[in-house]
Amino acid sequence: MTIYPVPSKWAAKAKIDAARYEAMYGEAASDPDSFWRREAQRLEWMTPFTKVKNTSFDETDFGIKWFEDGALNVAANCIDRHLAERADAVAILWEGDSPGEERRITYRDLHEEVGRLANALKANGVRKGDRVTIYLPMIPEAAFAMLACARIGAIHSVVFGGFSPDALAGRIQDCDSSLVITADEGLRGGKKVPLKTNVDEALARCTSVSRVLVVKRTGGDVRMKDGRDIWYHDALRAVSADCPPEAMDAEDPLFILYTSGSTGKPKGVLHTSGGYLVWASMTHEYVFDYRPGDIFWCAADVGWVTGHTYVVYGALANGATTLMYEGVLNYPDFSRFWQIVDKYQVDIFYGAPTALRALMREGDEWVKKTSRKSLRLLGSVGEPINPEAWEWYYRVVGEERCPIVDTWWQTETGGTMMTPLPGAHALKPGAASMPMFGVKPVIVDAEGCELGGATEGNLCITDSWPGQMRTVWGDHERFFQTYFSAYPGKYFTGDGCRRDEDGYYWITGRVDDVINVSGHRMGTAEIESALVAHAKVAEAAVVGYPHDLKGQGIYAYVTLNANEVESAEVRADLVQWVRHEIGPIATPDVIHFSPGLPKTRSGKIMRRILRKIAENDVSNLGDISTLADPSVVETLIASRAVDA
Ligand code: WT7
Repeated sequence: MTIYPVPSKWAAKAKIDAARYEAMYGEAASDPDSFWRREAQRLEWMTPFTKVKNTSFDETDFGIKWFEDGALNVAANCIDRHLAERADAVAILWEGDSPGEERRITYRDLHEEVGRLANALKANGVRKGDRVTIYLPMIPEAAFAMLACARIGAIHSVVFGGFSPDALAGRIQDCDSSLVITADEGLRGGKKVPLKTNVDEALARCTSVSRVLVVKRTGGDVRMKDGRDIWYHDALRAVSADCPPEAMDAEDPLFILYTSGSTGKPKGVLHTSGGYLVWASMTHEYVFDYRPGDIFWCAADVGWVTGHTYVVYGALANGATTLMYEGVLNYPDFSRFWQIVDKYQVDIFYGAPTALRALMREGDEWVKKTSRKSLRLLGSVGEPINPEAWEWYYRVVGEERCPIVDTWWQTETGGTMMTPLPGAHALKPGAASMPMFGVKPVIVDAEGCELGGATEGNLCITDSWPGQMRTVWGDHERFFQTYFSAYPGKYFTGDGCRRDEDGYYWITGRVDDVINVSGHRMGTAEIESALVAHAKVAEAAVVGYPHDLKGQGIYAYVTLNANEVESAEVRADLVQWVRHEIGPIATPDVIHFSPGLPKTRSGKIMRRILRKIAENDVSNLGDISTLADPSVVETLIASRAVDA
């Protein structure tokens, strides 16, 4: 493996060099109060805090509070604070789905748009603490909507536009949103996404929603329900732009974002105001070595946490110019990303390995016909990056000039937890590398014993950091059980991890029943329950398997009801069904019809065996003596060739 030393230019100029990393990491670990008191000054507080950290992961006094007696407004920190010096600087650079469609929103414009929308929300009954669901494409209104909620203290829940009406309904019901902000249609790669129609279908099942604001994006024909639906532009016309920001306690909720776990329905991850914004702003600055004037492009959708923290909150808190791209990587062709880089002279590009693999497969020409000279730093996020894709990113996209920050984090962590810092750490392709300031990782074995030195096991974090989630919406007990009960006193990440002889961390993937498909996190249990909800299905078990493009693919073992016949039609129908129940991101790659599933005598499905068969690694199935009926395994192995 090649190790890439820190380029001397970076070591000399970066905000954080090796010595500074050591000093800051050390201070954050040994004296968190003084470290975070200072870092928190990057924000403007309406009421200064006196207490910094008040956290415990122990069951007896469990609780997580940061800057608890301080007050601030997140939107004011992302907008108003910059007006004195950068009112005319571009806050959001928007590139539409089709080349040639663009918008430039200055901080002054942003102030006006957000103030007006905030007043429109109030005029439509939204109060501090109320929940607002945002179901929008990647258009500036998505950022306006998030910030307008923050301005008045409403809690937003952004639902990715690729989710189905069913999934949307579940997320609306779980947090009892009173208002939904959507668009007539989304536009991706020239294809229309029927957002408003999906909302209509979802709302047939939701009683809490009394208002829907609809952004006109495509002008497509949509039904507007009398007394419930209002055009966004009409709602804005009716109010003024002057909306003083609400003073929010540091621990007041900012947003809920639903994410999949190993069991049950998706969890509403709750982030609060002060700690989250300190974390978002600090990590955005240090991880990306962000400098005023940089054009920063995070290619994630705002429907995911990466979009929340780095397209919107972290970038805008730092007064950056954040690029928002509506479309996809191959429209009109596979050069699009790099054409956008050239068009706006992007300095920092942050994307997902799955996208890089898709681009890599198409050949270097699409990249090489663009300049990319403006790029200074590259980032990767969402899943482990395979060394091959890393090398391609480094050599072809970055022309060996740009360090790559491979940022490991989670919806739950609010922002980057591990990464190499470009001026401080030599790069090892595929390694999440080193912990961010304030992050104390440990690797434990199955019993919870901490393992020292070069080792491999389960990744836990032993102490709180400001960007940590505070609870699962409506289910604090589930929060504790999910993250703090497996290894008492520690936050369990759900990831496996290796530490090498240099102390670098390597994420090896999830160790629970969560899979990562194209950087999207899916609970296998969710896909299983969608499958068994189909009238023809008796039983289903879903596992992940290695997939060249997606990282992991979705492999579903399905047992049909006794009177049903396995056929290509049923298979196609099941695939459609899951797409409809959850959304296209959950499309099964393989449906393996299975007359029976391997179970223990107590009836527990042995997923370990199912994973091995899906991976086509059946030489070493391990101990199968506890199976109720070992012949099931033979049948599955024999039928794999047919189905997979
Ligand atoms: C899971 C979290 C990071 C925000 C977007 C995804 C995996 C994420 C990396 C990385 C290896 C990674 C982990 C993690 N993951 N980044 N750089 N290297 N694995 O957030 O949907 O909450 O998923 O994504 O398995 O637990 P998420």
